[in-house]
Amino acid sequence: MSSSRVFAVCFCGGSGIAYGLRLVEVLLQSGHQVHLAATGAAIRVLRHEAQLPLDQQHPDLRSLFAPELQKGLSVHDKAAVEAAPSSGSAGIAATILVPCSMGTLARVAHGFSSNLIERAADVALKEGRPLILVPRETPLSTIHLRNMLLLAEAGAVLLPAMPGFYHRPETVKDLVDFVAGKILDRIGVEHTLFARWKTPPTPRPSSQWNEGEEEE
Ligand SMILES: Cc1cc2nc3c(=O)[nH]c(=O)nc-3n(C[C@H](O)[C@H](O)[C@H](O)COP(=O)(O)O)c2cc1C
Repeated sequence: MSSSRVFAVCFCGGSGIAYGLRLVEVLLQSGHQVHLAATGAAIRVLRHEAQLPLDQQHPDLRSLFAPELQKGLSVHDKAAVEAAPSSGSAGIAATILVPCSMGTLARVAHGFSSNLIERAADVALKEGRPLILVPRETPLSTIHLRNMLLLAEAGAVLLPAMPGFYHRPETVKDLVDFVAGKILDRIGVEHTLFARWKTPPTPRPSSQWNEGEEEE
């Protein structure tokens, strides 16, 4: 296991809350510490997509993770701008907004810092530490694209929730693990969430290019 590091993970109100849940689960399983915060819209998405009976005003985010994993987890209200991820001196190794709504993405792109999540992203950028945004939206407007470009130019990693299919997923979990694994790759956390690409054997040339050759 790699040595323990501290990560800030923020759930925003984009579809695909399963990506965020899986990321936090694997980080905690790997022995890392996680500071977790969620927007009000993220709680709505958690209730809807994950069908979790969370209280909208006072959600118990710790209850989303197995008791044996909770030791490494610190949960913060999004209004708690005094919490560790708000400070550049807190030793946060990387900050990940997953899923990242277009609303939060826009506010981060323009430096609003109006809550803990936007501030944590702002701090990562100013400190030159990894900031990973996992947007999920389609189609994208020019406003979305401009905001993403602003963030990429400022040093953020835009990692859209776009699962690949070349690893031949069979379940929704395979798709979720693909995106969570791509995030883990970017923050240098080892994982086995998907099979690594290997060059497939060269296919036999099709017979139309080999006229005259005998079939086996
Ligand atoms: C079930 C559900 C799914 C949503 N999916 C998306 C989405 O995929 N992308 C997005 O940008 N916003 C999505 N939204 C809308 C955002 O939640 C909304 O714009 C919200 O104001 C974002 O707030 P936040 O940035 O504070 O999280 C969704 C909302 C709900 C309730």
